[in-house]
Amino acid sequence: MKKFLALALSLVMALSLVACGGSSTEEPADEGETAESGETGGETGGSGKIGIAMPTKSLERWNRDGSYLQEQFESAGYEVELTYSDNDVTQQVNDIENLISDGVDLLIVAAIDGESLTTVLDSADEAGIPVISYDRLIMNTKAIDYYVSFDNYTVGVLQGQYVIDTLGLDLNDTSKTYNIEFTAGDPADNNAPFFFNGAFDTLKPYIDAGILNIVSGQTAFEEVATATWDTATAMNRMQNILASYYSDGTQLDVALCSNDSTALGVTQAIESDYAGSNQPIITGQDGDEANLKNIVDSKQSMTVYKAVANEAVVTLALAQAILNGEQPGEELTSQFDCECAYDTSSYDNNTGIIPSYLLTPTVVTADNIQEELVDTGYYTMGSDGYPVAVG
Ligand code: BGC
Repeated sequence: MKKFLALALSLVMALSLVACGGSSTEEPADEGETAESGETGGETGGSGKIGIAMPTKSLERWNRDGSYLQEQFESAGYEVELTYSDNDVTQQVNDIENLISDGVDLLIVAAIDGESLTTVLDSADEAGIPVISYDRLIMNTKAIDYYVSFDNYTVGVLQGQYVIDTLGLDLNDTSKTYNIEFTAGDPADNNAPFFFNGAFDTLKPYIDAGILNIVSGQTAFEEVATATWDTATAMNRMQNILASYYSDGTQLDVALCSNDSTALGVTQAIESDYAGSNQPIITGQDGDEANLKNIVDSKQSMTVYKAVANEAVVTLALAQAILNGEQPGEELTSQFDCECAYDTSSYDNNTGIIPSYLLTPTVVTADNIQEELVDTGYYTMGSDGYPVAVG
């Protein structure tokens, strides 16, 4: 524990602009490649090899996650093998098999499909390799020791609350009504229903009161989901909705999108195919550069930012405790500067509750980009006035 505090202190001193963790300028591995580096037993005392399996480089945030994790673990003296699996489930299974046969001491896995890793993680379990489920909960396996993520339900709540606040919705005033459409994430990603439910539950009283109308009638998660969180898929669906329900001049007031990759597609559809002259409220999540540009340009209204640098710091502390033979619990959270809750009730992967460390997401709009993203050190402001991610 002392070791970690010393490490945390040195990192904080070196990278004092970032609230709870470090930043990286290194490029992560190319898709389908493995980046191997780091000395075993570095100056901060960590020893061993860490296998990190990320889903894809095509969705922006995972590049930052891989980069931050690699930086954190290498700075702590661990050797790191980092894989990206091109959103291909079979490839991710192969990548994890290779990490196991390469003798990693601990696995950190952000699953492409939360239900497809049972067999390969059984092998990890048999080999005595602890597994941290990173950001997305891996289902149907007892091999998972811990889950590190953000409060996923709250992400959706923040999006829904933003709509309520921006439109000034009031349950006692049904004189003004608004039209809304939902776009959710990948059904294979356990996070996606959490985001959707958080937003939908928050807005449901206003939907029930007739203040918010879902003109397409597409209200169920399965109807509004977007396979692999793909931008073009989200764009095509919104184009169809606009053609079918809004071409007669019906006004679209809100496009509630679960994340930035889907918001990007929805924004493109609205730009090209929406007949109305108003700018609908469009929500997102992640702070992808293209979306921050759209926020600066008033094409997207907000994004829910999740400081993945902090997710990496929490993951490192947890991994160190596990590798030291400890059984970390609530007490681990006291060493973080950032908000992080220890949760033993929310995430059941069908084999029981998985103890979780959940960080707190933040709403980012054009008004607080500088304060929340640039002043904190997560982004720099480009000379063109658009934020550029660090790491
Ligand atoms: C992550 C989101 C991300 C989405 C698509 C989810 O599991 O939590 O931050 O937008 O995957 O990459």
